[in-house]
Amino acid sequence: MTSPHQLVAAIIPQPLRVTTIGRTFLMRKPVVYTEDFGAAADRLVTWLQRASGTPVQRGRVSTSSNIVIERHPVASDEAYELAVYEGGARIRARHPDGVSRAIATLQQLFPPAFHQPGGGKFPVELPQCWIEDQPRFPWRGLLLDCSRHFMTVDYILDLLDAMAAHKMNVFHWHLVDDQAWRLQIDRYPLLTEVAAWRVHNGVRHGGFYAKDDVRRIVAHAASLGIRVVPEIELPGHANAALNAYPHFACRGEVPPIEPRWGVYPDIFCAGLDDSLQFYRDVMEEVIELFPDRFIHIGGDEAPRDRWKECPRCQARIAALGLKDEAALQTWMTREIQTFVAARGKAIIGWDELQYGGLPPDSILQHWRYEECLAGAIAENHQVIISQNRHLYFDYPHDKDPRVHSRDTQRNDWMPALGLEKVYGFDPIGTLVPAEKANLVLGMECTLWSEFAPQELVHRQLFPRICAVSEIAWSSPRDRSFAEFSKRLDLHLLRLKAMGITPYDGPMASPDWQQIYPTP
Ligand code: ACM
Ligand code: ZN
Repeated sequence: MTSPHQLVAAIIPQPLRVTTIGRTFLMRKPVVYTEDFGAAADRLVTWLQRASGTPVQRGRVSTSSNIVIERHPVASDEAYELAVYEGGARIRARHPDGVSRAIATLQQLFPPAFHQPGGGKFPVELPQCWIEDQPRFPWRGLLLDCSRHFMTVDYILDLLDAMAAHKMNVFHWHLVDDQAWRLQIDRYPLLTEVAAWRVHNGVRHGGFYAKDDVRRIVAHAASLGIRVVPEIELPGHANAALNAYPHFACRGEVPPIEPRWGVYPDIFCAGLDDSLQFYRDVMEEVIELFPDRFIHIGGDEAPRDRWKECPRCQARIAALGLKDEAALQTWMTREIQTFVAARGKAIIGWDELQYGGLPPDSILQHWRYEECLAGAIAENHQVIISQNRHLYFDYPHDKDPRVHSRDTQRNDWMPALGLEKVYGFDPIGTLVPAEKANLVLGMECTLWSEFAPQELVHRQLFPRICAVSEIAWSSPRDRSFAEFSKRLDLHLLRLKAMGITPYDGPMASPDWQQIYPTP
């Protein structure tokens, strides 16, 4: 049994200020009351009902146990105050996002059993406390690669709930790569008829997101205060799309779609007007589906060898008076960036976007090349930190001798990344000088899925994402891995009740293929 005092001492991510008085409050089945934040209150009611298996009312403050949600001028949209006192709980925020973050904290004050449907019971003893909280960074993201392996809509909806429970607020949806294109685009039906599928060892693998699926995911995320940023790779990581439409490739033909990882040489032909029209058409439909201001256009790992030998690409370089193929990529990126900018959108791109100079208003997502990060900072562009050595959660948790040494190529690509290393990461003062800290929008961990089909994603993410949620949300002052680990011990009970099984050591099997199967 965990006591209410242990619960309030084990909140993840750690709030800015927590004051306790060593007393508890016995909450009977509460009435939830709000004038300003109806949708958030409904969500809390739904959670309380699911947790306790009994109906919970919205209504007037009339009982001895209330949960009141009020508008209040706190410091930022995600800031909140939460009090548990004799009489109930009170949440104060100025924006629904702040209420969402407060609910995530309040849920952690309930015993872990409440995180399991039907697991909780009223009356319940809650710790009396006063919490003031706000995030360190406004961008706390998770990239989920749904190209290398397809993930179901239901899985993603649940994952969004788990993100909200950790105050993570950006779902970066990697929808396009060499191994599949996953997004329905009406004007290019072969993207989902052809490019969403591959056959391996006689088994057809794949799937795609119809527009209604996307709308469901975007709406659920919005209800949790999570923004959804789609990633449409341009011009590389395009082998799947080019299987559907090979005439967009410089050579007019490409290798088949297969689970062969790494960087593919065939990319969209930049000399072909139809390639640019393809991206404009796709962006129009993407803009219709995704309300967020940002669209991620990838830009990483686009080898330009085909462009070097392609007469159309060379003709484009000559006609525009460009210096080389790198400048051609910059030109292509700008064409699409201006197109989306005219429709109110801005772009994010990986490090490589910086080589030709960043388009105005664009954000750099740093994964690998420190000179690109430094260049972006020097040009006063905002950056998102996803540095691979600390935030790539496709990498193995530990250097397990039984599995880690069996595939040396993968060992080099994916060094071990343990929890303590994640928790100890702070980009400010290391990757980014302190005087430029204001350019760091936040952090994003990534779950590339080459070796992580859906059934292994939780195992790769947890508990490392708990550490990320804290380094991105909480103040870095007094941070201690030993202290975090103590809170995490209790937090694992919450995860377990949510049905989440985190990594807890190497699996018994000594076979890489069983741990990271390739379909
Ligand atoms: C990346 O990992 N290619 C951004
Ligand atoms: Zn070409």
